[in-house]
Amino acid sequence: MKIAIGNDHTALEMKNEILAYLKEKGLEVINFGTDTPDRCDYPVYGEKVARAVVAGEADLGILICGTGVGISLAANKVHGVRAVVCSEPYSAALARRHNNANILAFGARVIGPELAKMIVDAFLEAQFEGGRHAKRVDMIMEIEKKG
Ligand code: RB5
Repeated sequence: MKIAIGNDHTALEMKNEILAYLKEKGLEVINFGTDTPDRCDYPVYGEKVARAVVAGEADLGILICGTGVGISLAANKVHGVRAVVCSEPYSAALARRHNNANILAFGARVIGPELAKMIVDAFLEAQFEGGRHAKRVDMIMEIEKKG
């Protein structure tokens, strides 16, 4: 499985920890930055990861900013993205199983690295269940098509 990861300056330390964790697990990771502590704009990185996921360059994405909110909002503007902010593993698993979310976001100022790893595991290990959930996800994507 290939994961695209991106972050703003508030989440550099957290990103590096998650990046190392993903590599330890044997996953391939495309790192879109930022990789410096200089202040930057989260929409840039949200868009980069979103486009990589939609283009199929990565199977799933992980985005981290201060809260996870701004960067996920930016990613969700790219058609085909279903980015979710999660601060605990249950929602992360259900976001995959029921909502077929393709990007996980969380906040480096909200949760610590160990909880973040549990959330990442829950997201990556869960599978979309399809069935009645597929119809609802299709309905979401129809809204997007209407513009
Ligand atoms: C940056 O100060 C902060 O606004 C950003 O990391 C994020 O929390 C936005 O949603």
